[in-house]
Amino acid sequence: MAESLLFGEGTREDQYKVLIPQIKALIDGEPDLVANLANSAAALRQTFDFFWVGFYLVKNDELVLGPFQGDIACTRIQKGKGVCGSSWDQKQTLLVPDVDLFEGHIACSALSQSEIVVPIVKASTVVAVLDIDSAVKNDFSQTDQQYLEELALILSELF
Ligand code: SME
Repeated sequence: MAESLLFGEGTREDQYKVLIPQIKALIDGEPDLVANLANSAAALRQTFDFFWVGFYLVKNDELVLGPFQGDIACTRIQKGKGVCGSSWDQKQTLLVPDVDLFEGHIACSALSQSEIVVPIVKASTVVAVLDIDSAVKNDFSQTDQQYLEELALILSELF
C-alpha cells in the first residue's frame, strides 16, 4: 500500500492533491488520536522529505510535543513563544521563509532553515499545531499553507 500511496509525482500541489485524500483514507474509521497524528506526520514526511514534521498538543495551557517524524525536539512550548507558540496565540498559520529572521524562533535543530506552523482549531479553540521544518530556506509557499490548512481542518475532527 505505502508504495502506491506515497511519493507522488509532479508539483508540490499535485502531491498534496494525492496526499490529502490518502491521509483521509488512512485515518478513516480509526478513532485513536495518537495513531492518526503519527500516520499523518509520517505521510507528510515520506511524501515531501521534510526535515521535521510533527504536532504539538495544547495541554494545561502549554504546547506539549506529540507524534512527530524527525530528530529529537523541544518538549514544551509556552503560548506566544517561538513560531509554534505564536501560531497558537495568533490562531493563524505562520510561514517563516528564514527561521534566523523570526524573532524568538526556537531552534530545536540548527539544521532547520524554514518553517510553517498551522493551528488545528476545534470549536474556535486551538487544540494543537502542525509544525513542519525544512532544511532549506524559503521552502514553503501559499500552496503549502492552503493544503496544510485543509489537512488541519480534517484533523480537527479527531479532537
Ligand atoms: N521551531 C519551533 C520549535 C519546534 S521545532 O521546530 C520542532 C518554534 O520556533 O516554535
